[in-house]
Amino acid sequence: MSQGITVQPGQLIERILTLELVRVTERAAVASARLRGRGNEKAADQAAVDAMRRELNKLPIDGTVVIGEGERDEAPMLFIGEKVGNKNGPKVDIAVDPLEGTTLCAKDMPGSIAVMAMAESGTLLAAPDVYMHKIAIGPGYPTGVVDLDASPEDNIHALAKAKGVKPNEINCLVLDRPRHAELIAAIRKTGAGVRLISDGDVAGVIFTTKPADTGIDMYLGIGAAPEGVLAAGALRCIGGQMQGRLILDTEEKRSRALQMGVTDPNKKYDMTDLARGDVIVAATGVTDGGLLKGVHFGKDVITTETVVYRSATGTVRRIYGEHRELSKFHLD
Ligand code: FBP
Repeated sequence: MSQGITVQPGQLIERILTLELVRVTERAAVASARLRGRGNEKAADQAAVDAMRRELNKLPIDGTVVIGEGERDEAPMLFIGEKVGNKNGPKVDIAVDPLEGTTLCAKDMPGSIAVMAMAESGTLLAAPDVYMHKIAIGPGYPTGVVDLDASPEDNIHALAKAKGVKPNEINCLVLDRPRHAELIAAIRKTGAGVRLISDGDVAGVIFTTKPADTGIDMYLGIGAAPEGVLAAGALRCIGGQMQGRLILDTEEKRSRALQMGVTDPNKKYDMTDLARGDVIVAATGVTDGGLLKGVHFGKDVITTETVVYRSATGTVRRIYGEHRELSKFHLD
């Protein structure tokens, strides 16, 4: 049981904790999946948060949530600055999105996941829950082939050249928002395709790492900052390139960011600025989606699918869980 774990000095804590993170996201996913399709985003989010907090507090870590969903959603949050873990272990940074795609879950639409990252203390970007400009591509390209500050047209042409295809063979993934109207028009002008998603840009970024399967070469646009850090953590493991810039467009946001150590409000972060040290990212499907299968409630068994990324070794594990201790899950 997770409460029983002790960590000896010198042990590779993140290695030991890889499976423990699976338990955390599994519980959050099962808790919120019970509320799929009920039209109640807050209740689904609350269920995920409560389950995630309960499981996190069993872990032998001295953890601090450095970036999460709390502020922006006004959710019953695992708030930024919250201490988690039983303190019998190393200091770690935690990034959370207990329910990524609350609307997807509330409407029982594809693609909602429970996701978190854990890394050595001081190595995940600590920032308020604001928006972030993001660009991401998968592995196998020269460093710097695309850039957050280049135009969408230039990025598509550069990526097409590096891939050895025409611009009209490039596909981009963008969140379907009015704020992206110009971006979408600019992408389409090059002949490239745009896949629009209604929510869930952690998976959206991860899709760029397998263009042959997903059909997606590049993620572009504005999404939430915590999702940016979580996606960067996963890309650190799989490979790929990502850049982000916080949108600190009010004095209040700039001052909140400054308190968290963001001295340059216009800084362009690359993947290793967003997630610097060895990082583990775990995600469990809530509803069925392109990245993960959702929770299935059988008569005697609950099934889950989780993916865990570990940057130290680049290992990706997919874990199919069959949960029979249903009484425990019913507490969620
Ligand atoms: P939550 O459901 O966790 O709030 O996030 C869903 C999401 O679609 C993210 O994937 C994305 O980064 C963000 O919301 C975009 O924000 P907004 O919906 O405000 O445009």
